[in-house]
Amino acid sequence: SPGRSRTVFTNPDVYNTTTLLLSNDEGTLFVGARDAVLTIDVSQTDGMTVKEKLDWSPSEKDLVDCAMKGKMKMDCHNFVRVLQVLNSTHIYA
Ligand SMILES: *[C@@H]1O[C@H](CO)[C@@H](O)[C@H](O)[C@H]1NC(C)=O
Ligand SMILES: *[C@@H]1O[C@H](CO)[C@@H](O)[C@H](O)[C@H]1NC(C)=O
Repeated sequence: SPGRSRTVFTNPDVYNTTTLLLSNDEGTLFVGARDAVLTIDVSQTDGMTVKEKLDWSPSEKDLVDCAMKGKMKMDCHNFVRVLQVLNSTHIYA
């Protein structure tokens, strides 16, 4: 929106950012990435801060199963493709 200044946000531990979802109150940005969902506070005008980083890495078993299917290691991550508001307390990923 015009009232929101642009800021650049980078996090060295986050790869393959795939999807963004802004909360209804526009104070929180949910970011779907590789093996992670981040919650970023965007309510302040002077910058963004990570509130939470939910790790969603595949388990050892998932990695073994994935490799057995002949997939490359790079393709065995979890890629968060969809983020949607489910209700006031949950989002769907
Ligand atoms: C994820 O990011 C890496 C490094 O930038 C890139 O090589 C790879 O193709 C990306 N994978 C997907 C599924 O977007
Ligand atoms: C939101 O949905 C989840 C999953 O169905 C449910 O467990 C939770 O109680 C719901 N929250 C509200 C406030 O309805």
